[in-house]
Amino acid sequence: MVSRIVQVVPFDLVVFGGTGDLAHRKLFPALFHRFLDGQFSHPTKIIGVSRHSFDTAAYRLSIAKALKGFAGASAREDSIKSFLEMVHYVVLDVDSDLGWDFLESEFDRDPSRVRAFYLATGPDHFGPIAQKLAAHSLVTPASRIIVEKPIGKDSASAAFINDAIGAVFPEERIFRIDHYLGKETVQNLMALRFANALFEPLWNSAHVDHVEITVAESIGVEARASYYENSGALRDMVQNHLLQLLCLVAMEPPASLEADAVRDEKLKVLKSLVPIDASNATALTVRGQYRAGASEGGAVPGYAQEVGNEETQTETFVALKVEIANWRWAGTPFYLRTGKRLPQRVSEVIVSFREVPHSIFTAESGKISQTMLAIRLQPDEGIKLWLMLKEPGAGGMRLQHVPLDMNFAEAFSIHAPEAYERLLMDVIRGNATLFMRRDEVEAAWRWIDPIREAWTQMNEPPRPYFAGTWGPAAAIALVERDGRSWSEETI
Ligand code: BG6
Repeated sequence: MVSRIVQVVPFDLVVFGGTGDLAHRKLFPALFHRFLDGQFSHPTKIIGVSRHSFDTAAYRLSIAKALKGFAGASAREDSIKSFLEMVHYVVLDVDSDLGWDFLESEFDRDPSRVRAFYLATGPDHFGPIAQKLAAHSLVTPASRIIVEKPIGKDSASAAFINDAIGAVFPEERIFRIDHYLGKETVQNLMALRFANALFEPLWNSAHVDHVEITVAESIGVEARASYYENSGALRDMVQNHLLQLLCLVAMEPPASLEADAVRDEKLKVLKSLVPIDASNATALTVRGQYRAGASEGGAVPGYAQEVGNEETQTETFVALKVEIANWRWAGTPFYLRTGKRLPQRVSEVIVSFREVPHSIFTAESGKISQTMLAIRLQPDEGIKLWLMLKEPGAGGMRLQHVPLDMNFAEAFSIHAPEAYERLLMDVIRGNATLFMRRDEVEAAWRWIDPIREAWTQMNEPPRPYFAGTWGPAAAIALVERDGRSWSEETI
């Protein structure tokens, strides 16, 4: 099967932080793939910006190297060469007022042409860059700004950043990226729920026993120690990726796929989350930190050694029991967990349905396990529906829990595009459905802040776990206390 490509209009895209890791590893490979698929119209221009004194020729060489490293087998010399013809470079120190006129001279004069400013920088620069763009008259009616998480480190700093960007760009032209929303299977969650009559009638606490959301990584903090030390897993993963997944699982059907219709429903979920604070954090949260262990086929150091701080209290693992106080979900817990240096990289949402009310089978048939729907985001995107079926054979009635397994790559015979490919094209099209609105980001922080404050008050070190294991024993106890367990068997 060939995916249908709809060309986007010609655009000018400026990448602030153009020599950084995100630009090299993710943004340019994503743009390159969209270019190869013929999605760009001529003339399109991509302008890398940073304070490093490259010229365009040297910059193109560095992008060519990045593409060879990160764009996979499609990165052939001839296609890289044609792609690079649209790549330009401007030296600019965003703290200074010099150099902005060079940037201006790179743009097409047509005021209706799409101009996109991608801020692949730290959040401290978001407001100041937006203000400089305005001060140097670079913001046209067709301009839009793209910012990455983290948007602040709590609700107050997020509001401050949002105010600063909002003073220059109207909300509908601010694209806040949470790259999890661009993942193919995350969008499939909406297709699964709202394009099939099967699930939605069962999608509530009368039929769903509990939901698990796992985002596990086998990597450690790599070269991001200084960022991670000030962040930790709660801010880095839960405030954004896990809460966004929870919203898509739990939200009411939106009236349409319009950006605000979807975002209104997600916001209602965030506002319905039962607060976790000092009164209940001990019962509902677990924070952990990895010690030395074995991961990715070898011995690895602990987090404290990796960041060179034996006293560090930063969590690399979080598990939460989350409750949603509304008619649909009251009584159905959502168990969330995320961590680094876990046994494997896997992101999965598992919806476990309630047990059958009465069994007609005898003990010889075996235990009747719950029907489970596992939606796998990565790796091997797909959906598994675990059902009880009869074991084949003439003797007796023995039941087995087996999956109906749909692997998307096999089913559609096409490779799912990277999240950034989809998201970047959505920015050019002006479609904000898969981006976070200001009120969503701030509502998510307002729910996260009391958890962090409770942990500070409790003043307990994060619980240790060995690299290569599924987190501290307390995370298992969190679920077992309710007579349940994490569903490792689907992974
Ligand atoms: C980022 C986090 O947002 O997501 C990283 O800052 C994390 O710490 C990454 O490793 C995970 O993304 P993915 O797409 O590899 O699951």
